[in-house]
This record gives sequence, C-alpha cells and structure tokens, in this order.
Amino acid sequence: MNHRFDAGAETPDKTALIFEANDPTETPTSLTFSQLKTLVSRTANVLLSHGIKKGDRVALYLPMTFDLPISMLACARIGAVHSVVFGGFSSDALKARIKDSGSKVLITADGVGRGEKVINLKAIADAAMESLEEEDKVDHCLVLDRLNPEQLEANPTASNRDPTRDVDFKAAQAAASEDCPVTWMDAEDPLFILYTSGSTGTPKGVLHTTGGYMVYSGETFKNVFDYKGAPSDIFWCTADCGWITGHSYLAYGPLLSGCTSIVFEGVPNYPDASRFWSTVERHKVTQFYTAPTALRALMREGDEHVKKHDLSSLRVLGTVGEPINPAAWEWYNEVVGKGNCPIVDTWWQTETGGHMLTPLPGKWPLKPGSATLPFYGVAAALIDPASEEELEGNNVQGHLCMKKPWPGMARSLWNNHERFEEVYFSQFDGYFCTGDGAKRDEDGYYWVTGRVDDMLIVSGHNIGTAEVESSFVGHDDVAEAAVVGFPHEVKGEAIYAYVTLNHGVEGSEDLRFELKKQVAEELGAFCRPDVVHFTPALPKTRSGKIMRRILRKIADPSETEKLLAGDLECLGDTSTLADSAIVHDLVEGLREPC
Ligand code: WTA
Repeated sequence: MNHRFDAGAETPDKTALIFEANDPTETPTSLTFSQLKTLVSRTANVLLSHGIKKGDRVALYLPMTFDLPISMLACARIGAVHSVVFGGFSSDALKARIKDSGSKVLITADGVGRGEKVINLKAIADAAMESLEEEDKVDHCLVLDRLNPEQLEANPTASNRDPTRDVDFKAAQAAASEDCPVTWMDAEDPLFILYTSGSTGTPKGVLHTTGGYMVYSGETFKNVFDYKGAPSDIFWCTADCGWITGHSYLAYGPLLSGCTSIVFEGVPNYPDASRFWSTVERHKVTQFYTAPTALRALMREGDEHVKKHDLSSLRVLGTVGEPINPAAWEWYNEVVGKGNCPIVDTWWQTETGGHMLTPLPGKWPLKPGSATLPFYGVAAALIDPASEEELEGNNVQGHLCMKKPWPGMARSLWNNHERFEEVYFSQFDGYFCTGDGAKRDEDGYYWVTGRVDDMLIVSGHNIGTAEVESSFVGHDDVAEAAVVGFPHEVKGEAIYAYVTLNHGVEGSEDLRFELKKQVAEELGAFCRPDVVHFTPALPKTRSGKIMRRILRKIADPSETEKLLAGDLECLGDTSTLADSAIVHDLVEGLREPC
C-alpha cells in the first residue's frame, strides 16, 4: 500500500520556507507549502522534459536559495536520485562527483555572493563539465540566474552559456506545468547520494534510501528540536544543503513535519558578527541549529553583538559537526540562550542520516561537551580496539560503534558496495563502525573524542588527510607530503602540512603560497592548509610508514616552546624510525615562519 506522507497538504497556506539572502538589505521572501509544492512540481516537469526518469542521477551545484531544496524535492518527486555538491567545492571535486554518480543533468547558478565575495559558480561548473570525458559528460545544464548586474559585470564568464547544453532554469520552470504526479517509490529505492571524504581514496558516495531516511530525519527533527506543531515555531538550521545537516534538517526533516524553516544564503560574520542574532530577532526563530566553529568565531567578537538583539523567541539551541568545547557551550547557553534554552549537542554522520547521540530537550540533565545519550532505538557500543571486544559498563573508552541498524542508516556507497562493507563493517564483526572514538562516563553519557582514522574536521568539514596529501604531490615541485591537524581556536582543527620538495627545489614564501592556493583550488577553499612546513624528509618507520604521531606533536603549538628548548620527551619513542636524525630537522624547521 502506498502511504502518503504529505505534511504540508494539511496546511497549504502555512509558510514552509523563509529566504534570508546573503545581502541583508534584500527583502526576505517566503513560500507556503502549496507554493512550494507548485515549484517542486514545475521543476520536476523540467527534469522529466530533459530526459530524467526514476533512478537517474541529477547533480546539484547551487547556492542556498529556495532553488536548492526545491531541486532536491523535484528529484524526489519523480524518483530521481539527487547528488548535491557543496557550492564551495572546486571544479575537480565537482567533476569527480558528476562522473562517479553518472549524473546526466547538472543544475547550477551563474554565481553567488558569499559574504563580501562573489563565487563564479558557472565558471567552475563549466570547467568541470568541459573536462569530463565524452562518455561522462552531462547532457543538460540548468542555470539559475542569481547574480545582480554589478556582480555579473565583475564576473563576465558567469554569463557564458553553451546553447547546445545550457538551459535557463527559471524560464523552463515558469513554462512547465504545475501538475506532476508523484512517482511511487519502494521504501528501499535510492533517494540521494551525498559524497563524503574517506580516509583513503576517492570520496564516498553515501547512499540513502526513501523510506528509512525520511522516517528518521522526520522523527529525530520532531523529538530533538521539540517540534510539536506549534504554528509559531520557526526553525533555523544554518547549514548549507551541500552537507548532510542541510539535507536532514532543512530539506527533509522540517518539511516532512510541516514546520516553517529558514533558508540562509549568507555567512555568520557578514555584514558583521551579529548576523545570526539579527536574523533570529527578525524572524522570531524558536529553534536554532549551528556548528561549534561558527560559535567560536562569534564568541571572539564579543557579547555586544548578541546582546543588542531580542532573542527571547529562542527555545532550543543545537550544535552539530564536531565536539563543542565547554567554553563555547557555556557561552551559547548563557549569552545566547540566557540560561533558558536546552542545548542539544547532536552527534551523527552523513552515514547515519540523522541524530544518533543527542539530548532530548528537558528529558535528562545536560553536561557541556557531551552529546549525552543515544536517541531511542539507537544501540551504541564502545569497542576496545586491542581486544576487539565490546566494553561493558561505564567509565570506558573505545571505538564508537552501532550494534543494531536504525531507519536512517546509509544502505551502500554508490557503485561500490564492497567498499561500504569494508569501511563500516569489516573492522569489528557484527558492528557498524563510525570511525569516531568516545568515552562513556560514570553516568553512561557519551563524550565523542574525535576521529580515530586519518580524518580531520576543519570548521566542521570532514577532510581526508590523503586527499590533501595527493593534492600537494600533484604539484611539480613536491616529492612527498604528510598532513596532520593541529588545534585551532576557531576552526577546531586546522591543516598542517609537511612537504618534501624535489631535489634542487628551494622552499620559498612564494612556493608556500602557491601550494596552499593549489590545494584550495583543487579541493575547495575550506581545505586551504594553514601551515606548510618544508622538510628534507618525513619521519618513517623501517617499513616505510609515516609516524604521524610525531608530526602531530610537532604541529601542536602548545608543544613548540618545549621542543625548541630541546625537550623532545613529548614525541615519545622515536627508536623505530628508520632515520631518527629527521626529528631534529623537523623541530629546527619550527624556527622558520611557515
Ligand atoms: C563529527 C555531520 C562530536 C564526528 C552531521 C563525525 C561530532 C563527523 C558531532 C561526521 C558532535 C559530528 N560531537 N563530533 N556533536 N557531530 N561530529 O559526515 O567526528 O559531515 O564522525 O556529518 O563529525 O561528519 P559529517
């Protein structure tokens, strides 16, 4: 039997989405559920008329305007599989994702204003589309006009159109019929692919399916954000739909529940550090969901940016993406929430589809820095990596795993089910392995300690060290590179790269700049390394394995002083190194500006 899950159908005139543009002087617009449905149906018809049918993939490379969730839902309406690529990704990253997913239609825009900058999305999309091999090319590219005349004048290539391939998105939408019958899907049919970085190799196309994902994003949304259907509730998730958070808690969870939410195109610090709070006041936001990195950045700017706004509408405050340090938690609680709003520190992943460890507002006491307890139905477990046994009881620490499936769990990696089994299920027999480490304290509360593999979380974005390393090595002057994270006040973690240059090449300030730029261009600006440390060699064991433990210590600013004074104790045992003299060179390298 087909089950209609059509929350908005009962409240067609209720506001579904409110648009808050990058430029705060642009008047906010809104869409009711019935207007949203019309636009979704028109867009779905545009896709159908360009040859898209059930099961086909559509790549979306769009700014955070209404058109992004509309395009996602248009795919879902006709059973097409959307693959959203974050608008901060480079042309190479976009190309790889179009190719792997086999997308034959790309929806993009001429560009987008992000803070004071303008990103020429069309030029990036063109570079990606043109560099694809003939058999991987997209057939059609729908282009949304978003830039104003002034921005276009400064970015003339954003106006380039290939008449054989490019289609005016808005014109096609306006010309399409608003009647588009739903294509019924099986619960286990694919809904979307979302790429996430792996610790090795190419990005992983995490595959979510229709039934379980929607049940889980809807259910976690209602419970974790305490949404009981009050018409006055205005939910704001600041994440971009390019990430899973935007998928689950902007495009799906709130709309499935019939809740009004905000689509935010901007950044937290533009035009100034009060942007979040002025927007909360303007729209009377009740539940607010953001990332610790944004909170840390805003906290540094001083409390007056918060205090000058009326935030009395706020009821629940959420965080996601990385551990929240207790100082930022306290600030969020006291300065933003005035001590009246429970903080839901939600731990989850692209692969889990929705919240896994999280407080439920008012249901149990909070502890700053802990995601507290599993959501109902979630069977979390900690495994001791040495014995591979599950750790029973409290006061234990191990690898965070799940011992039972849950509705929102990813079903596969696109085109690579073998890799899915290997990455998530091969390490500990019978468990889904999250790749994070965690402690369970005396009260049974979970404290996530971070990744246990070679992944970095920079400003809440997952970055595989291997990806950054191969980008460095792609430069003609670079022989070898090793990348580690180091603690960063705002980003949480930042990228520190050790680079060995080819014989005869001298490290210089210019080369350092060029290398950072190359990585940012290839992988996206958020992957730009903070430090490039030139070294004659990397510390390796006799079997050739890089000892990252040593590199992490040398990169850690809190160890620098001791290391430079000749106290190398923090580096631990270095006797297994093939050439232990390298340690001295690396430490000496700290004297030079990197
Ligand atoms: C980290 C984002 C601590 C974690 C939804 C996880 C967190 C990775 C938290 C997934 C949290 C996410 N506390 N760490 N509340 N939330 N993480 O796939 O390492 O972009 O494995 O999904 O972010 O990142 P992803």
